[in-house]
Amino acid sequence: MDTGKKRIAVIGAGPSGLAQLRAFQSAAQNGEAIPEVVCFEKQDNWGGLWHYSWRTGLDEHGEPVHGSMYRYLWSNGPKEGLEFADYSFEEHFGKQIASYPPRAVLWDYIKGRVEKADVRQWIRFKTPVKLVKYDNSSEQFSVTSHNLETDQETTELFDHVIVANGHFSTPNVPQFEGFESFNGRIMHAHDFRDAVEFKDKRVLIIGTSYSAEDIGSQCWKYGCQSVTVSHRTAPMGYNWPDNWNEVPLLQNVQGNTATFKDGSTAEVDAIILCTGYRHHFPFMADDLTLSTANRLASNDLYKGVTYVHNPRLFYLGMQDQWYTFNMFDAQAWYVRDTILGKLNAPDKNAMLSDVADRVTKEDALEDDYACIRYQGDYVKELISETDYPSFDVDGANEAFFQWKKHKKENIMGFRDNSYRSVITGTMAPAHHTKWVDAMDDSFESYING
Ligand SMILES: Cc1cc2nc3c(=O)[nH]c(=O)nc-3n(C[C@H](O)[C@H](O)[C@H](O)COP(=O)(O)OP(=O)(O)OC[C@H]3O[C@@H](n4cnc5c(N)ncnc54)[C@H](O)[C@@H]3O)c2cc1C
Ligand SMILES: NC(=O)c1ccc[n+]([C@@H]2O[C@H](COP(=O)([O-])OP(=O)(O)OC[C@H]3O[C@@H](n4cnc5c(N)ncnc54)[C@H](OP(=O)(O)O)[C@@H]3O)[C@@H](O)[C@H]2O)c1
Repeated sequence: MDTGKKRIAVIGAGPSGLAQLRAFQSAAQNGEAIPEVVCFEKQDNWGGLWHYSWRTGLDEHGEPVHGSMYRYLWSNGPKEGLEFADYSFEEHFGKQIASYPPRAVLWDYIKGRVEKADVRQWIRFKTPVKLVKYDNSSEQFSVTSHNLETDQETTELFDHVIVANGHFSTPNVPQFEGFESFNGRIMHAHDFRDAVEFKDKRVLIIGTSYSAEDIGSQCWKYGCQSVTVSHRTAPMGYNWPDNWNEVPLLQNVQGNTATFKDGSTAEVDAIILCTGYRHHFPFMADDLTLSTANRLASNDLYKGVTYVHNPRLFYLGMQDQWYTFNMFDAQAWYVRDTILGKLNAPDKNAMLSDVADRVTKEDALEDDYACIRYQGDYVKELISETDYPSFDVDGANEAFFQWKKHKKENIMGFRDNSYRSVITGTMAPAHHTKWVDAMDDSFESYING
């Protein structure tokens, strides 16, 4: 097969899309013929969510702002669980660094690998993809993109499309009775940017997952008056500070009074909906659109990546995520080798039964520990089929187990712990300042102290 003549479109230059570029570049570096790779990125820079933007709502071009990142965000899991197997933290920083880096530090790390790989020229920045269609007779995709600089639309043909636009950008926004007349700020986590806005305020948070936990913690750290977290299913149950309260689901608000399912009430100044995100692909034709919940075994993706209804199309990073950067790598290497013809997708029935099998196994998982092992096994499965450098996935699982234990022990102090790298074997140093006291989240402050 003359793969050199194929054209591949990658949609998004976040960690997933960049993993795909690095995967192809590493094959080229090993002397293999690779197809032409064109990566479309709607932002003006790479790194996806890790490229912080202060903007919310629509950007200067009228595009929905992708970013859900906010100031002062530190990694919510140990970096030892996400380290690239082909580019360690020590290689990037010239030394081992502490285990829970803030956003700017992780962004720098993500950039470092692709700068070294020299793939920036493959990316068309400020170019959102607007429409992807498939033509059965030519067996090609047409990809229409919009150059925001020149304000021109272009349609081109590709042999494969790899969708890597992330799924934590388009908010899931429930409504509660009385929101219309609430006398304060109501926002979704997607638009949250700076906890200082909520200093001295009584904050009500809806939801109990990572956004709820971390945005509540940020507001607390930067001086809000109180945090009330309302749950639909179950409280988070950590040993929270005194001015933090967990309550059942919000029923309504009247003026500034919020009433919960158990009849209790709280006076609140601001409501932050930490109610998750939707997989959203407005640019994909209906027959190419992935429809799935945020789960470990996503619908309709053979091996978690190949779209069963059209195996020339791939989706990266669409699962709920314990593993992130290294799982995107495992997926990207797998997709690369499928496109290069080294791996083959089976017939549709076999792909559907692969998906069904993954769903059944996920449904049987009993707790978070089992979920971590399940996703670790998935990473192992994919990397065993490609030349992605093998690494100690069980050791990374262990870092996640320790992380869970540390959160139970001290929810406002878990980021002060250190773990051992499964790539270089070295122990991370303790950070120079405890997380609760570290108000400056800049790169310089974290790395140079
Ligand atoms: C608030 C928040 C905090 C997080 N914190 C952590 C953490 O601490 N640790 C961790 O491991 N993970 C964290 N995550 C998980 C996060 O999903 C991954 O770390 C990672 O960013 C996912 O990479 P991605 O490339 O799949 O998606 P994204 O990072 O979302 O990147 C997708 C890219 O696609 C581009 N794009 C979108 N639509 C189009 C289009 N139509 N055309 C062209 N380009 C497009 C976007 O501009 C973006 O650059 C966090 C997520 C959120 C929301
Ligand atoms: N680095 C960090 O510190 C950090 C910070 C924020 C986010 N993140 C990342 O961002 C990603 C997304 O996390 P997320 O917390 O935004 O989303 P999520 O994990 O999908 O959780 C969504 C939450 O919203 C609740 N919910 C949904 N619909 C609701 C409704 N109608 N009423 C009440 N509650 C509702 C869910 O409750 P049920 O349990 O009842 O379903 C769940 O608690 C994760 O990968 C996470 O790691 C990381």
